[in-house]
Amino acid sequence: MGELAFIEDVLKGIRAYVLENYEKRRTIEVDEKAHANDVLTAVDLGVQERIVEKIRSKFPDDLILAEEGDLSVHPDSPPDRCWVIDPIDGTQNFLRGFFPAFGVTMAYIEKGESTAGGVILPVNGDLFLAERGGGASRNGEKIVVSDINDLQRARFDIDFDGPSLRKGTIEMTLKLMENVGQIRSYACAVIGFCQIAAGEEEGYIHLGLNPWDHAAGQVILEEAGGSISRLDGERLKPFDGKLGALASNGVIHEQLLVGLDQTAQVRS
Ligand code: IPD
Ligand code: CA
Ligand code: CA
Repeated sequence: MGELAFIEDVLKGIRAYVLENYEKRRTIEVDEKAHANDVLTAVDLGVQERIVEKIRSKFPDDLILAEEGDLSVHPDSPPDRCWVIDPIDGTQNFLRGFFPAFGVTMAYIEKGESTAGGVILPVNGDLFLAERGGGASRNGEKIVVSDINDLQRARFDIDFDGPSLRKGTIEMTLKLMENVGQIRSYACAVIGFCQIAAGEEEGYIHLGLNPWDHAAGQVILEEAGGSISRLDGERLKPFDGKLGALASNGVIHEQLLVGLDQTAQVRS
């Protein structure tokens, strides 16, 4: 079984566990990490443990980078083979429930490039998969980005994150907010990338992501014909997310970059 088939197998397998816990979400204990809006639940840990165990038994020599606990330390120089996991992307949406915009995501990084990735949205069961050079799919059907080429008809997802990035996000996106057709804020990175890949949205921005937030989304989006860059316009690499990420259907990427406040590109 190759890496993509393995990702598919793992993500399909974890869905039942997430759904079972989603039903019980009101009784789940919540811990705060860096700040009050950065939360951790036993479900994040449970999903991560299960996925890590599967990777360790199938690919015992590979490095694993995962959001929770000890595995979250970014390596100084990543080895040739590396897995990146976000057990629940969108934990806040998972807990609130009314709008179940959260997903489980994992990516395989080879020689510094996101090579295969998958995202499952447990509630509706949508499974997004992609492998470099092999196209992207949603539930087995090929997906491509939209061909919308003007901002006035575009839908743009602004991910404001917690309070510390909010002012910067507003300052940088002000011009775009005035110009784009529609604005959303799903507060879930993988939803941002997958919606664009599926042709249902045209742009997404975040001022500082981690590899587990964007590694799988990147390969899915690029294989669907979209673009993802840092805020300075350079193509994003798996460990570049802290420099900000701008994703699009490709067609409007340059217009989005122009719309950003160039003076605020480099965040401290
Ligand atoms: C978060 C979501 C959110 C983004 C945060 C991420 P989490 O992931 O992707 O959209 O704004 O920066 O941390 O914490 O729910 O895995
Ligand atoms: Ca997470
Ligand atoms: Ca995340």
